Amino acid sequence: MAKKIVIASGKGGVGKSSVSAGLSCALQRAGHSVLVVDCDIGLRSLDIMLGAGEDMLFNWGDVITGRCPAERALTPTAYGPMLLCAPKDFEHGYTDEAMRKLAAEYEERFDYMIFDSPAGVGIGFRLSAAAADTAIIVATPDEVCVRNGAIAADNLAALGIEQSRLIINRFDVKATVKRKLLNIDDVIDSTRLRLLGIVEQDSAVSFNLSRGKPLPPRSKSAKAFERIAGRLDGKRIPLKLD
Ligand SMILES: Nc1ncnc2c1ncn2[C@@H]1O[C@H](COP(=O)(O)OP(=O)(O)O)[C@@H](O)[C@H]1O
Ligand SMILES: [Mg+2]
Repeated sequence: MAKKIVIASGKGGVGKSSVSAGLSCALQRAGHSVLVVDCDIGLRSLDIMLGAGEDMLFNWGDVITGRCPAERALTPTAYGPMLLCAPKDFEHGYTDEAMRKLAAEYEERFDYMIFDSPAGVGIGFRLSAAAADTAIIVATPDEVCVRNGAIAADNLAALGIEQSRLIINRFDVKATVKRKLLNIDDVIDSTRLRLLGIVEQDSAVSFNLSRGKPLPPRSKSAKAFERIAGRLDGKRIPLKLD
């Protein structure tokens, strides 16, 4: 039975989709079968980030509305995880219950299901959380993002997901020392979330993922995702910056 994790933040552009892609690949490399569900209706990105190519025919909306069987919507990616693409438009059948049924179609054959949430705390956010058991809040170390991350976690708690954990993304030691960004303790204190990992500012994320290329295994971000994947697996891996 898959562990179902929603990746959320409240605010847009903080790295939810990059974390979804990087973490999914790390989990796959650790030997798990992973299904990534792009929940950003109308603004999908994971097909590019995961190198799925142009030939995806169906998305999860087609499964919910009965236009295609669950199996046919699975889109292979270049790096191992399977992908369910986001629909182009919202349809009435997209409800919390429909998302739970959708997850039930796949949960026996995957070890992890990663739901990449859209920005905001509206309907798309709610749908992305509907089938998940746990959440990862992604926050960059700045006041606005940290506050929005805390609000997203509160919203998830109201939806029944109590166990949000925190990934601090785009951490930059030099900017933190110069007090241009919040430090790690500030972010943890303000969000009141348990820290799962830190992903540093890394040009490999913007250059590689945005062009559908994998993160180089020795890049800071790939190593960070490997550690985070290990912690999700229950391993005790100390916090570390590269
Ligand atoms: N750790 C990182 N280092 C450098 N750039 C990053 C990092 N994480 C995300 N980015 C960049 O930030 C932008 C937004 O990332 P994205 O994953 O699309 O955010 P979201 O899904 O939250 O809107 C992208 O250009 C991405 O390449
Ligand atoms: Mg995104």
